[in-house]
Amino acid sequence: MKRTNTTRNLAIALLLFTTYLLSSSSALKVGQTCAADRNCDKGLHCETCLANGNARARCTRIQPTTATSKVNGLPYNRYSWLTTHNAFALLGAKPAMGSVLLAPTNQQDSVTSQLNNGVRGLMLDLYDFNNDIWLCHSYGGKCYNITAFQPAINVLKDIQVFLEANLSEIVTIIIEDYVSSAQGLTKVFNAAGLRKYWFPVSRMPKNGGDWPTVDDMVQKNQRLVVFTSKSAKEASEGIAYQWRYMVESQYGNGGLNTSSCPNRAESSPMNTKTRSLVLQNYFPDNPDLDQACKYNSAPLVSAMNTCYEAAGKRWPNFIAVDFYKRSDGGGAPEAVDVANGHLTCGCDNIAYCKANSTFGTCEVPPPEAGQAPTTPQATKPVSGVVSTDNRLQCLLAMISTIVLLLMWI
Ligand SMILES: *[C@@H]1O[C@H](CO)[C@@H](O)[C@H](O)[C@H]1NC(C)=O
Ligand SMILES: *[C@@H]1O[C@H](CO)[C@@H](O)[C@H](O)[C@H]1NC(C)=O
Ligand SMILES: *[C@@H]1O[C@H](CO)[C@@H](O)[C@H](O)[C@H]1NC(C)=O
Ligand SMILES: *[C@@H]1O[C@H](CO)[C@@H](O)[C@H](O)[C@H]1NC(C)=O
Repeated sequence: MKRTNTTRNLAIALLLFTTYLLSSSSALKVGQTCAADRNCDKGLHCETCLANGNARARCTRIQPTTATSKVNGLPYNRYSWLTTHNAFALLGAKPAMGSVLLAPTNQQDSVTSQLNNGVRGLMLDLYDFNNDIWLCHSYGGKCYNITAFQPAINVLKDIQVFLEANLSEIVTIIIEDYVSSAQGLTKVFNAAGLRKYWFPVSRMPKNGGDWPTVDDMVQKNQRLVVFTSKSAKEASEGIAYQWRYMVESQYGNGGLNTSSCPNRAESSPMNTKTRSLVLQNYFPDNPDLDQACKYNSAPLVSAMNTCYEAAGKRWPNFIAVDFYKRSDGGGAPEAVDVANGHLTCGCDNIAYCKANSTFGTCEVPPPEAGQAPTTPQATKPVSGVVSTDNRLQCLLAMISTIVLLLMWI
């Protein structure tokens, strides 16, 4: 068939219309079928989870609810913060030294993007390297060209920019510390302009008491909480020794069993109440982009319920995962919402907390009546139903595509 100008114009119009139908919708909810991130509501993106057998691309969550917007003014240890394991080890990172980077990677987006998505706990591995302090994912306590990601100052400056722009946000950095140069950490934090946000060790509760409230931390501009794995630095540099304040569950494969929640070797037992913060790790030894969506879904919440019991009926303040954006629906953001519901208002999810109400007053489902839950509810099952609007849209798009194809033959 010889194409006329009219049919060509019609074809172009149809093509535009099809593109519009496939891409314009930006109102899809969690679980609904999507073609691209932009089809989904704010705070969601579009992905499959083949590890769970979900070949249908659906909108999944990448942002937790801001708990302080629901329940404000509680102590820092009464909130749960989404935490990225090896926040700096980015998929596709270019080698910074030499020609290859052979280190495993744990996250998909930059620390700035993580912070914008509501990540508030960052796990960073810091090393002496190349006459500076570097972020490396290395072994044997030493950084090499092939394991070096970038100078720490770059990422610390990104954190500074975020704190500067968001005056009521609190960020926690958990350092796996391999720095032995004198005042090495102090120098790099100062150089990044982070000193002025420093939450002082002197204000941290030493015997399991409550921390200052988030309001107080914001008001005093002490919005950066930093922990190190080296105990001596608390005295020498004023950087809190992590396990004096926090219990932490086993990382790697040893922490994946959803029916047990052992502490990692450096931490006191999970139920040690003289440590007011609880950190739950949930990721395998070898970061696995494909399986991450599975780990970050139902097993994460199940492990959290187990850790709640192991920690003496305490919900995790930090939920640390690999590839935090990956899940089959609610993922790590949903787990954080569940923890925040229990921590801040005694409900099964922060979504059920009523603003300015007494503890245990929930919207839906029924309140826990102030009791510690014996069988904590997992997250609401995610609806796998495609909305009628969405189906209609797909149908129209399909018809236009067919007509379009026929016209080109
Ligand atoms: C590491 O990389 C730097 C910069 O490319 C290079 O000069 C140095 O020789 C490399 N070191 C080793 C041990 O390969
Ligand atoms: C942080 O500040 C930026 C720039 O003002 C803003 O776009 C963003 O929404 C803020 N994020 C939060 C969590 O407040
Ligand atoms: C998981 O933990 C439970 C309870 O401690 C134990 O009985 C079980 O053997 C563990 N499973 C694996 C695969 O280690
Ligand atoms: C909750 O209380 C605060 C302080 O009294 C007030 O500013 C805010 O508007 C209240 N929020 C709601 C939803 O009632």
